[in-house]
Amino acid sequence: MSLTVLDHPLSRHLIQVLRRVDTPPVEFRTVSRTLSTLLIYEATRELRLRHETIQTPLESTDADVLAQGLAVVPVLRAGLAMLESALGLFPDVAVGYVGLERDHTTAVAHSYYCKLPTLAGRMTLCCDPMLATGGSASQALTVLKANGAEDLRMVCVVAAPEGVAQIERDHPDVPIFAAALDRQLDSRKYILPGLGDFGDRLYGTM
Ligand code: PRP
Ligand code: URA
Repeated sequence: MSLTVLDHPLSRHLIQVLRRVDTPPVEFRTVSRTLSTLLIYEATRELRLRHETIQTPLESTDADVLAQGLAVVPVLRAGLAMLESALGLFPDVAVGYVGLERDHTTAVAHSYYCKLPTLAGRMTLCCDPMLATGGSASQALTVLKANGAEDLRMVCVVAAPEGVAQIERDHPDVPIFAAALDRQLDSRKYILPGLGDFGDRLYGTM
């Protein structure tokens, strides 16, 4: 397992905007999109390339062309915040959806939706902004593997140590990319310092 935490002034700036309690949904959405672009850029660093000879207006030259298909699977609902960024960077990305919701009392996620494209042979990005207990991400990754995903990445905005440890136990082969690694979970399994409930802040459902 490997955890990559973005280390760039822009990502550090953007994450503090998301953390602020008075950031309104419209700004929360815009900043989430920009930060997700940085995360997806980093998470796809190992996409395979092939060499081609291309023609410029002046001469022919060797060039690198993307040679590996990509799939993105946002975990509903908060993961939808990251989808547009993937589509912006990779317009032909295949898109799937996994719907999971944590029970408010137990913090255990239950599945309510799943629709996936062909994942075999593609790099698959599982996108969920919050990795708290890791229960949702672990379930999602299990479903993706059962549907053929082999080359998986977990992409999140904020990770808790507890969630990282859970993925390390359940899916040691899946690298995690995050914009921040926070301190711990509280008694309700929310991330501290965190940013609150990502889905509620994104959609104004507080
Ligand atoms: C949030 C978040 C993750 C999950 C993380 O979703 O988007 O999916 O909690 O927590 P975990 O690591 O402890 O499983 P939530 O269940 O609140 O649903 P929502 O996206 O519909 O708001
Ligand atoms: N889900 C969220 O949206 N935020 C947390 O802090 C934990 C789970």
